[in-house]
Amino acid sequence: MKIKTLCQSITRVPYDLLVVNEFEGVKAPGGATGAIDKALKGAISDLIKSGEITGKLGEVNVIHTQGKLPAKQVLIVGLGKSADFTIDHCRIAAGAAIAEAKRVKAQKVATIVHGAGAGGLTLPAAAQALIEGTLIGAYHYTGFATIKDESFFAVEELIVVEQAKSKIKDINQGVKIGRIIAESVNNARDLVNAPANRVSPSFIAQKAKEVAGVSVKIINLSQAKRLGMEAFYSVSKGSKEPAKFIVMKYGKGKPEIALVGKGITFDAGGISLKPSNALWKMRDDMAGAAAVLETMRAIARLKVRKNVVGILPCTENMPDGNAQKPGDVVGSLSGKTIEIISTDAEGRMVLADAVTYAKKLGVKKIIDVATLTGACVSALGDAASGIMGSDQNLVDSLISAGKKSGEKLWQLPLFEEYKEYSKSKIADIKNCTEQGKASPSIGGLFIQLFAEDTPWAHIDIAGTAFLDKRRWYLSSGATGAMVRTLTAYLMG
Ligand code: BES
Ligand code: MN
Ligand code: ZN
Repeated sequence: MKIKTLCQSITRVPYDLLVVNEFEGVKAPGGATGAIDKALKGAISDLIKSGEITGKLGEVNVIHTQGKLPAKQVLIVGLGKSADFTIDHCRIAAGAAIAEAKRVKAQKVATIVHGAGAGGLTLPAAAQALIEGTLIGAYHYTGFATIKDESFFAVEELIVVEQAKSKIKDINQGVKIGRIIAESVNNARDLVNAPANRVSPSFIAQKAKEVAGVSVKIINLSQAKRLGMEAFYSVSKGSKEPAKFIVMKYGKGKPEIALVGKGITFDAGGISLKPSNALWKMRDDMAGAAAVLETMRAIARLKVRKNVVGILPCTENMPDGNAQKPGDVVGSLSGKTIEIISTDAEGRMVLADAVTYAKKLGVKKIIDVATLTGACVSALGDAASGIMGSDQNLVDSLISAGKKSGEKLWQLPLFEEYKEYSKSKIADIKNCTEQGKASPSIGGLFIQLFAEDTPWAHIDIAGTAFLDKRRWYLSSGATGAMVRTLTAYLMG
C-alpha cells in the first residue's frame, strides 16, 4: 500500500473514500467530521440522531456523497467512549476502516489521524498507531494457493490528510515509524503462517542474512557440538532438517541487550510425541524467533541507538531412532546438566544454550520470547502473553511498552516454592515436571537457572502468537506477537 501525507482540508480530496471518526455519545460532530457533515448537508448528524451512527468502537458507516464532495464515499468510524480511550483504539479504528475500504473496493483512501489529543495522546503516536492499524489490518496471508481468490481486494493508496501545516512534520514522523513496525509485524506473520516444510531453520537463517544493517553469524550443527551446546543440539537429534543457531548483531559497540527467540520450526514433541490432532499447528513454534528477527529488522531501519544481539536457536523437534529420549541426561553450553523428563519440553533447552551464549557475549539484559507452554494458553488464552523475570524493572518496562503497542503482558510468578518441583536426583535440573503444576513458571525458572544473575525477562507467547478467530485489526492466524512491544521497548 502506498502511503502519503497531504496538507489540505479533507473535504477537498477527490478520493474514493474519506475516513473520519466519531466518539460514542457525541451529538454534533466537530473537526474534520463536522466539516464533512456540513458539506453533506447534515447527513452525518441525521444518522447520529436516528441512532445508526453510535460511535461505538470499530463501528463503520459508509455514506455516498452524491456529488456534494469531490470524493465518492465517506466512512465514519467509531472511536468508542472518550473516557475509555487508549492508543489501541486508534489502531482498532484504522483496522476497521481499512477492512471496510476493502469491502467497498475503494482503491484510494484518504483518512484523518484518529484520536490525537484525546487522553493525552501525542500526534506522532496517533499517526504511528493509525498506520499500524491500517497495515496490520490490511494484512492478508496468500500462502501457496495457485487458484486466485477472486474476492480478494487490496487498497492501493492511503493518504493521511491534515489541514494545519504545522502538524505535518509530526504526522510524517509517526507514519514512518508505524510503517516500519507494521511491515516487520506482517513479515513475522508470513514466517509463522508458512508451513514447516517451507520455513526450515535454513530458511530462517537465509531470512536473517537478508536483514540490512545487521551482521549475521550462523552456527551449524557441527560447530554447535564443538562449542558444547548440547542442550540445543540434543533437541535436533531426531530431525533430518539441519539445525541453525543464528546470531544477529546490530549496533556499533558490544551488545548490551540480547533478544532470544525460540525457533522450533516444527514441534512434534520428539519421542514424547504430541497427539496427532494438535500436530499441524506446531509449525508456529518458531514465532519467538520470527519476532526477534523482525524486531532486529525494525530497529535497524529505525536506526535505534542501542547495541542489540538477536539469538535464534532454530531446529525441528522430531521423533526418530536418533532422537533424545525421556530419561536422558544432557549437558549444556553453561556446563549444567539436564534430566529430560519430556522431550516435548524442548523450547527451554534450546533457550538455555541461547541464554548462555548471550551471557558469554557480556550482555547486560536478556529478554526471551517463546511459544513455551500450553498451560500459558489455558491460563491467559490469546488475550495476553505471560511475562516473568528476575528483574522487576525490566518486566515493568516491557509491560508498559506492551500497553503502548496494544499487546497485553500479564506477569506470572517465579515463586521459590516451585523450584522444588524440578529438582533432579541425577542432574542439575529436570527439563519439566511429571505433574505439570505451574507449568509456565517451571519453564521460566528453568531458563532463569541459565540466565543466572543477568537481568532477564521471559515472555510466553504460546497463546498470543496465533489467533483462531479475527480480533480487531488482527486477522486469524499468526499475529507477529511481540514485534511491536520489543521494538517499542528498544526505542524507549
Ligand atoms: N510448543 C509447545 C507449547 C505450545 C503448546 C505452544 C500449545 C502453543 C500451543 C512446547 O514445546 C510444549 O510442548 N510444551 C509442553 C511442556 C510440557 C511438556 C512441560 C506443554 O506445554 O505441554
Ligand atoms: Mn514441545
Ligand atoms: Zn515447542
